[in-house]
Amino acid sequence: MERLKIGVLLSGGGTNLQALLNGIDRGSLSAEVIFIASNKGEAYGLVRGQERGIPTAVFEAKDFPSKKERDQKLLEALKTHNVELVVLAGYLDKIPNFLIEAYPNKIINIHPSLLPCFGGKGYYGERVHRGVYERGMKVTGATVHFVSEETDGGPIILQKSLPIKFEDGVSDIQQKVLAVEHEILPEAIQLLAEGRVTVINGRVKIHHK
Ligand code: GRF
Repeated sequence: MERLKIGVLLSGGGTNLQALLNGIDRGSLSAEVIFIASNKGEAYGLVRGQERGIPTAVFEAKDFPSKKERDQKLLEALKTHNVELVVLAGYLDKIPNFLIEAYPNKIINIHPSLLPCFGGKGYYGERVHRGVYERGMKVTGATVHFVSEETDGGPIILQKSLPIKFEDGVSDIQQKVLAVEHEILPEAIQLLAEGRVTVINGRVKIHHK
C-alpha cells in the first residue's frame, strides 16, 4: 500500500507529531511525514522533525507583509513537497478558506475535547481543560475532525472519551486527554491511508475493511 504523504502543521512541543512518528516506526501507520511547518520558530516539534531529517519550515506572521501572503507561501510549500494530507497537530492559527479549498477533506485537526463541547474560538490548549474542569464534567476526551471554515466545526472522523474523577485537576485532565490524542490521531490517519473514510452530508462514514 502506498504510504500517505503527510504534512504536519504545529505550534508547540509536538507530542502528537511524535505519536505519528512512533506509529510509523512501529509499522502501524502506512504514512510518511514528509514536511513539518510551524507558525512559531521556537516550536520544539520542529526539532523532532529535524532530528529525523524531515524538511521543516517556519511561517511566522511577523515575517510576511500579511497573514494572507504567509498562508499563500505555506500552501505553496505544501504543494511543493507533494503533501497529500495536512495534519494540524497543535497548530494555533486559523486555516484560510483558500487552503481548505486547495485540500478538500484533506486537512484534519486534533482537538482535546469531545466536540462540539469546549471547541470553537478561544478554546485551545489549557483553556479547554479548565472549561471541562470548572463545568464539573464527568467525561471528556479528544476529537479528530476534518477542517472546515468554522473553527473546530468540520466533520468528525474519530472521538474517544475518558472518565474524569473528582480528584482530577486541570493538568491531570490535560495529560489523560493527551494520551488519548496520541491514540486516535494515528488511528484516524491509518483509516484515511486505507481509503476507509467517506463524508456524507457532513457526517463521516468509516467503511469496514
Ligand atoms: C494538543 O492537546 C492538541 O489537541 C491541541 O494542542 C495540543 C498540542 O500538543 N490542539 P502537542 O504539541 O502535540 O504536544
